[in-house]
Amino acid sequence: MKTWKMVLLVVIALFAASGVYATLLVRRGFSARESPSWIEAFAAGIAKSLAVPATYRMKDPYAPTAENIREGEEHFADHCATCHANDGGGDTLFGKGLYPKPPDMRTAETQNKGDGELYYTIENGVRLSGMPAFGTGSGTGTDDAETWKLVLFIRHLPQITPEELEDMKKLNPKTDADRAEEQREDEFLDGGAVPKAPAEERHH
Ligand code: HEC
Repeated sequence: MKTWKMVLLVVIALFAASGVYATLLVRRGFSARESPSWIEAFAAGIAKSLAVPATYRMKDPYAPTAENIREGEEHFADHCATCHANDGGGDTLFGKGLYPKPPDMRTAETQNKGDGELYYTIENGVRLSGMPAFGTGSGTGTDDAETWKLVLFIRHLPQITPEELEDMKKLNPKTDADRAEEQREDEFLDGGAVPKAPAEERHH
C-alpha cells in the first residue's frame, strides 16, 4: 500500500474512534459524581501541567514567621476552608462533590510543589475545576502579599496543631442559621429561656 493511503486510513480511523468516544461521553454525561475515564484524566492532566507555566519557579518572598503564617491562616479559614477544610484535607461538603476533588494539601502531592506553583494556582485558579482564581483583578480582594502568606500557611499545614484548628473554626464563614444558634446559646448562658432546637437540619 502507498504511504499516503496508510496515512489516510490512520487519520480516518482516529476520527472514527474519537467520534465514537465523544458519543459515549455525551450519552454518559459529564457528571462530577463519577470518576472520569483514564483518557479524560490523562487529557486533563496534560491541560493542567500546561496551565501552570514551567517558568513559575519563584521562592516565597515572605519569611515563615509566626505572624505571617497566622495571617495566611486567618485568610484560609475565611476564604478557602469551605472547600479545603481548615486542616487542608479537603473533607468538606463542597469538596466531596467536586471533580477534581480538592487534594489533601498536607501530603507530598501538594507539599512537593514549588512556592511559585502554589502561588500561581491561588492567583489564577485551576481551569476546568472548582478552584477559583483569587488573584489581583479577580475581584476577591486578595493581593500579592496575602497570596504569598497563604502559601506559607499551606506549607505549615502538615504541622498544624489542634489549638490552631480550634482558632480557625471561629474564623470560618457563618450562615445566618449559625449566628441565630450562637445567639440562642448566648441568651441561654445569660440565664434566658431554654434554647429552642434549630428548626431545620443544618449542613456542616
Ligand atoms: C469552591 C471550592 C474551592 C475554594 C473556595 C478554594 N479552592 Fe483551592 N482547590 C479547589 C479544587 C477543586 C482544587 C483541585 C483542582 C485540581 O486538582 O485541578 C483546588 C486546588 C488548590 C491548590 C492546588 C493544590 C495542588 O496540590 O496542586 C491550591 C494551592 C489551592 N487550591 C489553594 C486554595 C486557597 C489558598 C484558597 C483560598 C484563597 C482556595 N484554594 C479556595 C477548590 C477550591
